Amino acid sequence: MFVIGIAGGTGSGKTTVVNQIINELPQDEVCVISQDSYYNQTDNLTYDERTKINFDHPRAIDFDLLVQHLTDLKNNKIIEQPVYSFVAHNRTKDTIKTHPRKVVIIEGILIFNSKELRNLCDIKVFVHADADERLIRRVRRDIKERGRDIDEVLSRYQSTLKPMHQQFIEPTKNYADIIIPNDRYNTVAIDIVRTVINDRL
Ligand code: CTP
Repeated sequence: MFVIGIAGGTGSGKTTVVNQIINELPQDEVCVISQDSYYNQTDNLTYDERTKINFDHPRAIDFDLLVQHLTDLKNNKIIEQPVYSFVAHNRTKDTIKTHPRKVVIIEGILIFNSKELRNLCDIKVFVHADADERLIRRVRRDIKERGRDIDEVLSRYQSTLKPMHQQFIEPTKNYADIIIPNDRYNTVAIDIVRTVINDRL
């Protein structure tokens, strides 16, 4: 099994890179796990309390479960990947059965903060986009898909996302084997990743 870790700031285009890699592979040879599915269970908090959580700090993530699940996949076990709701700010009751595949992609802003996760990755990719591009994408997406308004997105960006990016996300670029600039469609970088996968499988 070959594990690809894909990190990068919010709105950097991790999802696009994941999809480009998936499109290069037969459907039954790849699975994806997303760090977003592993936000801590917060059933004990009210909705208001949950909105105040710092979602861009490593302590918001259930890294133990994430590491466990990735290890299970490596050991050829099926996992029940949690499903997270960005509207309710909480894990839902649903899970997605995720089968072990030849290629496992794990993506998320904070994944390279965990030494165990870094060690489980065979290749570490960091997707880079300039902060203004990321903010533009974030504003569009949060309003369209995550039920937020512009004031909420911008104040969260200033108070939390930007400082957390500088403290916890940007420094993990140093762990990357490949940095993909994603201000445009980068086919060469994807070709390189594909070559590495083919070489290893
Ligand atoms: N987040 C949120 N509300 C929550 C939980 C998380 O708005 N209840 C936000 C966090 O603030 C974090 C972001 O979700 O910044 C992480 O997702 P992001 O990396 O932006 O999305 P992806 O689709 O994984 O990545 P990309 O935009 O790079 O494709």
